[in-house]
Amino acid sequence: MKRKVLGMVLATSMVAATLVGCGGGEAAPAATSEPAAEAEAPAAEAEAPAADAEAEAPAADAAAPSGNKVGVAMPTKDLQRWNQDGSNMQAELEAAGYEVDLQYASNDVATQVSQIENMINGGCSVLVIASIDGESLTTVLEGAKSKNIPVIAYDRLIKNTDAISYYATFDNYKVGQTQGQYIVDALDLDNAEGPFNMEITGGSPDDNNATFFYNGAIDVLKPYMDAGKIVVPSGQIDFATVGTPAWATETAQARMENILSSNYSDGTTLHIALCSNDSTALGVENALAANYTGEYPVVTGQDCDIANVKNMIDGKQSMSVFKDTRTLASQVVKMVGQILKGETVEVNDTTTYDNGTGVIPSYLCEPVFADVNNYKELLIDSGYYTEADLQ
Ligand code: BGC
Repeated sequence: MKRKVLGMVLATSMVAATLVGCGGGEAAPAATSEPAAEAEAPAAEAEAPAADAEAEAPAADAAAPSGNKVGVAMPTKDLQRWNQDGSNMQAELEAAGYEVDLQYASNDVATQVSQIENMINGGCSVLVIASIDGESLTTVLEGAKSKNIPVIAYDRLIKNTDAISYYATFDNYKVGQTQGQYIVDALDLDNAEGPFNMEITGGSPDDNNATFFYNGAIDVLKPYMDAGKIVVPSGQIDFATVGTPAWATETAQARMENILSSNYSDGTTLHIALCSNDSTALGVENALAANYTGEYPVVTGQDCDIANVKNMIDGKQSMSVFKDTRTLASQVVKMVGQILKGETVEVNDTTTYDNGTGVIPSYLCEPVFADVNNYKELLIDSGYYTEADLQ
């Protein structure tokens, strides 16, 4: 499958034309409904390590399958956002006339591999995959490549395979920058003397996005750390040290409880809890509620999950980053259509995301910050949530 790329100019002007910028302004289905029933597939053996990947070029000239069935592989139903991503994708694909095979894999790599195998053997013409572990799909995707089934990596880059045709996501580095800049502004770091105490809770080490989020935030905060205005009492700073496997709330909570009891039980103030997303922020907020009585820190997040927006309204989380899953779904549905019709596929980034076999042409949607002052406009006026959802 040849990667046909429509250049940045058109795509950039489209971004400028929309508020949360990506897939045009069409109305999308309500985001909070339960997704279609999850079809469980039998577990399969985990994939071979990335080093075994073949380095050969994709089968570029064979004809792409011409059917209209689209496989959508999502990581888990445990996090609200993936339910929204899945149900939005399904609704939009069906509205566009496609048959959809939507699967959730309970955050289990072997299950996701097996589901993808079934999609390949079940006649899907395009695969849209939000991976659990971006490095574990090399072998199964050989099967897609051999049948010339194009694959779109959804939200998370899939690495070490040349079976990926396109990548659609939000600007992950900008998500981190947005969190970092929020902290700078909230504490007026350019003028305040500090020092401010910060603890960092990162994302899952097997998720390519997590490094982008971390780097985006730390690149903004580093000058203040270097100047001694921000200090990290636990000493836990490196991405490898602050990561949260599987983005699990409980893991983030347990780690923060340890940090609080080791470094803050003497009354030391925690000023900043930099959390990469909402599920980790929730863990940190739980730990704070149970183990900390000092001045409440600035807490960051990402996704605008309902529990976190409620916490934002209650003053327990300072901000989140809103990634409108409707716009990502719309963009991906558009890409699917362009692929199946043999049209040029719209992308707006051809430099950032190298998956180990080369740069994957990407479409990056715009993330925006949300806090207690703008959440109504962003989330309720846009129909993403109802008032009742947030009560
Ligand atoms: C997504 C985030 C999400 C995290 C945990 C990341 O890949 O980009 O939006 O919070 O996974 O599911």
